[in-house]
Amino acid sequence: MSKVIVTNIGMLATPQGSSPKKGPEQGNIQILSDAWVLMEDGIIAQVGTGPAPAADEVIDAGGRLVTPGLVDAHTHLIFGGWRQNELGLKLHGKTYLEIQNAGGGIQSTTNATRQSTEEELTQKAAQALDEMLHFGVTTCEAKSGYGLTTEHELKALQVIQNLNSRHPIDLVATFMGAHLVPAEYKSNRAEYIRLVCEEMMPKVKEQGIAQYCDVFCEADTFTAEESRQVLEAGLKYGLRPKIHADEIEAIGGSQLAGEIGAISAEHLIVCPPEGIASLAKGGVIACLLPATSFYLGAVFAPARDMVTAGVPVAMATDFNPGSCPCLNLQFVINLGCLKYKLTPEEVLTAVTLNAAAAIDRSSQVGSVEPGKQGDLVIWDAPDLDYICYRMGSNLAKTVIKKGAVVVG
Ligand code: NIG
Ligand code: FE
Repeated sequence: MSKVIVTNIGMLATPQGSSPKKGPEQGNIQILSDAWVLMEDGIIAQVGTGPAPAADEVIDAGGRLVTPGLVDAHTHLIFGGWRQNELGLKLHGKTYLEIQNAGGGIQSTTNATRQSTEEELTQKAAQALDEMLHFGVTTCEAKSGYGLTTEHELKALQVIQNLNSRHPIDLVATFMGAHLVPAEYKSNRAEYIRLVCEEMMPKVKEQGIAQYCDVFCEADTFTAEESRQVLEAGLKYGLRPKIHADEIEAIGGSQLAGEIGAISAEHLIVCPPEGIASLAKGGVIACLLPATSFYLGAVFAPARDMVTAGVPVAMATDFNPGSCPCLNLQFVINLGCLKYKLTPEEVLTAVTLNAAAAIDRSSQVGSVEPGKQGDLVIWDAPDLDYICYRMGSNLAKTVIKKGAVVVG
């Protein structure tokens, strides 16, 4: 049995338990000084303070902050090309939906993704994952959604599976065939939805390559009724629902999330009070994406109202080539404090335990406790406030995945 110990931890900050934290519990984390974490065969065996036990390998944290490895619970990791051409359009006043309706946006990335081979997409996403790992991310959700045909959606999910076995970051796959009605079905939306539900989903289930089904419930994209149809079909194929809701316009997505019992609802930028009530009632995790608000020049989701209403809040990057070309979850941490006015403790829970719960991984990761995976970040920081306060630098010094140093 290989024993690895991280010693000389100035501050160990971690949420506790395996269930998502809501209300006042979201900010109720464990803080230990002069701590150590002992891992055996990649699993946390013991956490303590004071004199440390012996081990085969000692990692000296040098009095720094240690937290759980970060969990990025919402990314559109698999895509061909980029969309830097849209920056100029934005600067000339075009909105996200105007660009999308003119054939840019998701459709243009879909064209590029269809032209990319599985190997090309794997290489490109691996680079992004390397960068995420350097920022302290050790578990990540990844969506399909830029293929929009059976062949190309399955290709994207296959890429996620390839990367899960070759990259240190653990990946969780979400099928998002309902990201946009592609150009060739614009005059026959019902037929595209049929294709998603009756042709793509059975194959996704047969190949066992996704756990979740997501839909972009948005003006000019999928209506709430269409979204319900897609998510209910997903449930028949064992895919748990997630939903992009209230990102630009509130058209009923958050209410639907609560009614259908989605594991998480994403964005919620313009979530109305009745949407928040529905999330609370349905036990849905709010997965908030503040870097997208920043990039779209939009308002910020009513995170405090959600905490007050007893909705567990997670935060993620939403990494994608259009509305958020950003892989840096540390920037999301800054925005969580500065724009949502969450406390550093609430923010830490949002990017660790609650994010893990949003992808059903909270019994394995998301906190530093015996029995969980040895996924840790040693920060170039003395305490938790510091990583929320500094911005623009990468403060992750050493990243440990399953008990092994993978960065630093
Ligand atoms: O979460 N909203 C839908 N999907 C992404 C954007 C995708 C894109 O613009 O390529 C999002 O913002
Ligand atoms: Fe998204």
